Amino acid sequence: MPVITFANTKGGAGKTTAVLLLATELAEQGYRVTILDADPQQWIARWHGLSSVDERLKVIPYVTADTVNRQISQNKSRADYFILDLPGSQSPLLPKAIGLSDHVLIPIQGCAMDALGGANVLELLRYLEEKANLQVPHSVVLTRVNSMVTTRALLAVKMLLAQRNVDVLNTPIIERSAFRDIFDIGGTLYTLDEGRVSNLDKARQNARCFALEMLRRVPLHDRSKAVPRSRLIA
Ligand SMILES: Nc1ncnc2c1ncn2[C@@H]1O[C@H](COP(=O)(O)OP(=O)(O)O)[C@@H](O)[C@H]1O
Ligand SMILES: [Mg+2]
Repeated sequence: MPVITFANTKGGAGKTTAVLLLATELAEQGYRVTILDADPQQWIARWHGLSSVDERLKVIPYVTADTVNRQISQNKSRADYFILDLPGSQSPLLPKAIGLSDHVLIPIQGCAMDALGGANVLELLRYLEEKANLQVPHSVVLTRVNSMVTTRALLAVKMLLAQRNVDVLNTPIIERSAFRDIFDIGGTLYTLDEGRVSNLDKARQNARCFALEMLRRVPLHDRSKAVPRSRLIA
């Protein structure tokens, strides 16, 4: 059961939103997903308390550097994927999380401050590779991207990442009200009301493309564990 960690030392980068999109989309695809909520704001745990969701999706609240190993080992038979949502600041959990991850995903908004928070994580990854010979696959997902215009700040961030040979997902996470609404209303993009939430179809398509790219980067070797939803419905 691969562990995917979302990290950016700056708050507001879109980590928690991206965690929820990936987790709910993987569950929709039939995978059993456990979210490890290490964000002191506990947004994911609060979201989970709002409504009942697919039983394939579990949330473990109050994850810390002291508890994370135990929480993973105690739950590994029940999860195809673990997704770890880190706090939006430097935290002792960050190096530990990197050490136990199969992939680190760094959400970056197209702005300089956010890119700096992302660069902190990239530097730590490079440091661990040089000093401890620890190579953890990682990539960047651009978040809260405007669907209409490409800002100069976003282009600058993209260029910086290309210069550093950082793997950037082709699918950016677009700024969509649906991605905020799921935190207020509960449930997933598939349980929101199409009549009430604008561009819900585009939001679903965006989340799906994002999840498919992540599945390609972090494939599940023992695919027999997951039952695709389409087969369950049929
Ligand atoms: N793609 C998005 N579309 C719309 N709102 C977003 C999106 N990503 C993040 N937000 C909003 O931005 C704020 C910060 O996002 P969040 O995911 O909590 O970031 P982080 O976990 O990095 O602090 C929240 O209010 C969230 O609803
Ligand atoms: Mg967060």
